[in-house]
Amino acid sequence: PKILLINGPNLNLLGEREPHIYGSDTLVAIENRLQQQAGELGISLQCKQSNAEHQLIDWVQQAATDEIDFIVINPAAYTHTSIALRDALAGVAIPFIEVHLSNIHAREAFRKHSYLSDLAVGVICGCGADGYTYALQAAVKKLQLTT
Ligand code: DQA
Repeated sequence: PKILLINGPNLNLLGEREPHIYGSDTLVAIENRLQQQAGELGISLQCKQSNAEHQLIDWVQQAATDEIDFIVINPAAYTHTSIALRDALAGVAIPFIEVHLSNIHAREAFRKHSYLSDLAVGVICGCGADGYTYALQAAVKKLQLTT
């Protein structure tokens, strides 16, 4: 199985960006750990990050062509703004889990609403970088149930 991890804007700054909220791990460190986990789980994992909304949408569209089985996505601030990203995920109909490092429900009111959550097979938030690990485990389990 092929899983695609997409991280959205400002997540390239993990480690230095508000570490009291987002933790001290860099994105590279997180991705390296997930690659190791993917190897152990016997899945192929592609990791991508962009600050640009159109790039995230293009990757979601490309995922259908690339026959990606599952997407794990932290859309960052586009969670709360992007109908276009929502439409892309709905359009490709690839199952996905939405991840947030922080607990978006315990922060500013504008972070409580997600344009993606009702389409997601699951949402993980507030578990820090471990949330990605849980998402990969959940993705593998869900793929086993559907094949
Ligand atoms: C985030 C939460 C978003 O509200 C915020 O805009 C981010 C990161 C998280 O992982 O906690 O950039 O998605």
